[in-house]
Amino acid sequence: MPADPQLTLRLARTQDVPAIQALVQPLAEERVLLQKEAVAYYEAIQEFLVVEDEAGALAGFGALHVMWQDLAEVRTLAVADGFRGTGVGHRLLGALLERARGIGVSRVFCLTFEVEFFRRHGFEVMADQSAVDPEVYAELLRSTDEGVAEFLDLARVKPNTLGNTRMIRAL
Ligand SMILES: CC(C)(COP(=O)(O)OP(=O)(O)OC[C@H]1O[C@@H](n2cnc3c(N)ncnc32)[C@H](O)[C@@H]1OP(=O)(O)O)[C@@H](O)C(=O)NCCC(=O)NCCS
Repeated sequence: MPADPQLTLRLARTQDVPAIQALVQPLAEERVLLQKEAVAYYEAIQEFLVVEDEAGALAGFGALHVMWQDLAEVRTLAVADGFRGTGVGHRLLGALLERARGIGVSRVFCLTFEVEFFRRHGFEVMADQSAVDPEVYAELLRSTDEGVAEFLDLARVKPNTLGNTRMIRAL
């Protein structure tokens, strides 16, 4: 289906942070996404793409977080209620995967309840930890990032990951 011409996909700007936080809030209350401090969104703003409508309201957003030479995560992908089911998520995920290719990674991870959506975009449920070899696992353990801890399935982030499915796709 063609992209809606009224909706624009663009790089996120610092001014988008309050709207991103406001859209994450109800999803965080449902434990679908992790709410972060405002400073974390500002620090990560260059990872985000957004889709906005003609009036400048955010229809959705998503981020690509690089974890290792060959590995990145799609995170904080969300579409506002009124825009769900119209291809906004598809457009954002496609653009994030394109970014992943451009930045040099060959595999993309996600942690999600939206298994069918990601499956339709080429992701598979991760069977185990064999996606990274033991040396890389040891290096990733040095990260302070919550998403990396979720990827490694560490005990301290189990409350965040409960019920979520760990998925990965090759590019
Ligand atoms: C997952 C999520 C981002 C999907 O966003 P979305 O914009 O509703 O997704 P899309 O519209 O692209 O696709 C959803 C459906 O719309 C359909 N669709 C309608 N118009 C479409 C179009 N123009 N192009 C593509 N698909 C379209 C798709 O076929 C799909 O249908 P299906 O689920 O029956 O196969 C959204 O549900 C969401 O925000 N979920 C909560 C947050 C979350 O869980 N994020 C993932 C973890 S990071």
